[in-house]
Amino acid sequence: MYDMNCDIDHVLVSEQQLKDKVAELGAAISRDYAGRDLLLVSILKGSVVFMADLMRAITIPCGIDFMVVSSYGGSNTTTTGLVKIIKDLDQDLSGKDVLIVEDILDTGVTLSNLVPMLKMRNPDSVRICAILSKPSRRQANIEPDYKGFDVPDEFVVGYGLDYDEKYRNLPYVGVLKPEIYE
Ligand code: IMP
Ligand code: MG
Repeated sequence: MYDMNCDIDHVLVSEQQLKDKVAELGAAISRDYAGRDLLLVSILKGSVVFMADLMRAITIPCGIDFMVVSSYGGSNTTTTGLVKIIKDLDQDLSGKDVLIVEDILDTGVTLSNLVPMLKMRNPDSVRICAILSKPSRRQANIEPDYKGFDVPDEFVVGYGLDYDEKYRNLPYVGVLKPEIYE
């Protein structure tokens, strides 16, 4: 039986660290958005694991919705240019407090383009919750309002993040062995 764990060079964020952080973020969001009309917007597919955990760590009522976006000219490991909406939200944003749920804020290009697009739909607020951030890679002037962990400038997989659509189901965040890319 093939075990994906063998492809991992080292673990950056363990399952337990993720669990503790999600609980912390859920508590903070529940406090900050009490009495508001909170809508969690998951950016597919990378944020699906984080979304499923985070929504259960939030104790106030909230809605959920999903979006698929792609960056023009982007490939597997780089992101450039503007964002294109492949699958839009199902619901109206007016009067809602939107919290974008993301796997990783890398260059920031995707969200720096998406946030103004969502703001044009008249929500009460738009903020960002990212489980990971790579501050050294930032090109756009954008930071998460809620953040899990800073990671170094390495390509990471697991907890929703993929390499070539694989490794999303690893329960921790790790770095692949170099030979996997070759
Ligand atoms: P951006 O550069 O901030 O626009 O990042 C856009 C998307 O690239 C993220 O939401 C991820 O889906 C993907 N991405 C960025 N860095 C990594 C990584 O290290 N591993 C896997 N996916 C990544
Ligand atoms: Mg993503």
